[in-house]
Amino acid sequence: MAKLTVSRRRVLQTMGVAASGLVAPFAVAGNGSRFRHGVASGDPLADRVILWTRITPKAGASGPAEVSWEVSEDLAFKRIVTRGTEVTDADRDYTVKVDASGLEAGETYFYRFSAGDDTSPVGRTRTLPKDGVRALKLAVVSCSNYPQGYFNVYHEIAARDDIHAVLHLGDYIYEYAAGGYANPHAVNFGHHVEPEHEIVTLDDYRARHAVYKTEPGLQAVHAAHPMIAVWDDHESANDSWRHGAENHDETQGSWYDRKRASVQAYREWLPIRDAEDGDPLRIYRHFDFGGLADLIMLDARLIGRSEPLLYAEHLGDPATDAERFRNALHDPQRTILGNAQLDWLNGRLQSAQTPWQILGQQVLMGKVHLPDVLDVARFPAEGPFTRPAAERLLSIAEQGLPFNLDAWDGYPAARERVFAAGRTHGSNLISLAGDTHNGWAFNLADERGRPAGVEFATPSVSSPGMEIVAVPPGILAERFVAANPELVYLDSARRGWLEVAITPESATGRWHFVTTVLSRTYQPLLGPAWRVHAGEATLQRA
Ligand SMILES: [Fe+2]
Repeated sequence: MAKLTVSRRRVLQTMGVAASGLVAPFAVAGNGSRFRHGVASGDPLADRVILWTRITPKAGASGPAEVSWEVSEDLAFKRIVTRGTEVTDADRDYTVKVDASGLEAGETYFYRFSAGDDTSPVGRTRTLPKDGVRALKLAVVSCSNYPQGYFNVYHEIAARDDIHAVLHLGDYIYEYAAGGYANPHAVNFGHHVEPEHEIVTLDDYRARHAVYKTEPGLQAVHAAHPMIAVWDDHESANDSWRHGAENHDETQGSWYDRKRASVQAYREWLPIRDAEDGDPLRIYRHFDFGGLADLIMLDARLIGRSEPLLYAEHLGDPATDAERFRNALHDPQRTILGNAQLDWLNGRLQSAQTPWQILGQQVLMGKVHLPDVLDVARFPAEGPFTRPAAERLLSIAEQGLPFNLDAWDGYPAARERVFAAGRTHGSNLISLAGDTHNGWAFNLADERGRPAGVEFATPSVSSPGMEIVAVPPGILAERFVAANPELVYLDSARRGWLEVAITPESATGRWHFVTTVLSRTYQPLLGPAWRVHAGEATLQRA
C-alpha cells in the first residue's frame, strides 16, 4: 500500500484543526451534527483496528439506526480498502463499534461514518507494525477531568503526527456530582457535568461519557490517533477495588451493579475490543509493536484488587502499631491483579520475544515515602492538608511506611511477584503509570534492592497535582528525590503528558506540559527526558 503522502497541514485542516500550529477547537462535530461525539479508533493490531462513533437519534426516534463506515488509504476517500454497515440502538446507547479488518500492517488509514445525509468527522488511524521495527513512539495520558479545565493536553498530542498510539491509563471520566472535585473557573466557562448528581446507574455513566466526548481536545486526539485505554478508579468510583470503592456506600445500591454499569458504559463509549471470552471485566490485553515491544495493558483496579488498607482505619498510633500494620500490608494473600491476570502476565513475560516489555497500568510501582517538608510548607487552617495532618503523615513515613496505599506500595507482595516474574524471564520491564496527576520516574527495585526495571509516570490532563500542597515545586521535588532511593524525577505542579520513545537499544521518557488548563490559550512546555539502555534498568538524564 502507498505510504501516506498528504501533508500534515492538509490532514489537520480536514480534521477541523487549524493549520497555524495552534490547534483550534475541533470544528466538524458541531452540536447540530448527529455525530456530535466525534469519532475514535483503538486497539490496533497488525491487520485490524476498532473504529468508534455514536449517532444521536433524531428527535422522538427510539428505534434502531443504520450507520455506514468506510476506511480509506487516502484522505479524499478515493482508495477505499473496506466498508460496511452497522445497526445500533438504545441497547448500546447508539454507539457504533467496528473491528475493521483486512488492513496492512504499519499503515495509516482514514475513516468516517455516515447515516442518511449526515457524515461524521474524518478520523486517522494506524495499524501495528509487523516486524523489524526500529522505533516506536507512544503518547501516555491519564486523569482527564472535565470540570477541572480544558483538555489542552489532548490538543497537543492531536497535533503530532509521529505517535503510533495514545495510551490512556485511566480516569478518562470522573464520577463526582457537579461541583465535586471541580475547579470553579472551569465550571464558569461551561465545563459542568451531567447528570448533576454522582453517577451510579448505567444511564448516569452513559450521560457522563457523552458530556466528556463533546470536549474538542478529546475529539481531536481521538480523531488523530488510535487509543489503547484501560480504566482506573474514577470510571467507576474513587479508590475502587474488586468488592467496593471508597466513594460507594450501600445507600447507592449494590457495588456489583454499579461496577457492571460503569464497565458497560466504558465499553460502549471507548474504542476497545471485547475480550475473546466475552468477560466485560477482562480489560487486560497485549499489543506486539513489530517485535520491538510487547505492550501489556493491566487492570490493577477492578478485576482482582484486594481490600485496601487505610491508615485512618487500620493504623492507630504509628509509633506503636507500625509493625502490626506492616505485617498486614505484606500479607502474601493480598493481590492487586488477581491470580488469573497475574498468571496471564507471567505467561506473556515468559513467551515475549521482544527487547522490551511495557506494562501499561494505573498506579505507581515505585516506592514513595513522604519527605519532611514541615519547614518549607504553608498549611491552611482547614482541609486535608493542615499541619497536624502533615505531622501524622510524617510520623507514618518515619516508621518506614509508604505514602500512598492506593498504589502498588499498598500491595508490596503482589509487586514482588511481578518483579520476580520479570527477573525469571529476563524481562526489560518498563512500567507506565498514571493516577497521581504528577510526573515521576523511578529505577524500580525489589525488596532486596535488586533492579527490576524502570517506571515513567504521566502527569494528568487536567486534574490538580501536588501543587495543592503549599511547598515550592522545586523544593518538593528535591525532598522527594532525596527521601526515595528509587525516585529520580518528580514534577509536582504541571499538567501534561508523557512521550515514550523506544528503540531496540533504549527507552526514553520525555515529559511535556501546558502552561494552563483554565484557558484555551496556552503554551506548550518541553519537560526533561530520562533514558534507560536495554538490560541496565537505570535511568539517566537524556
Ligand atoms: Fe485521577
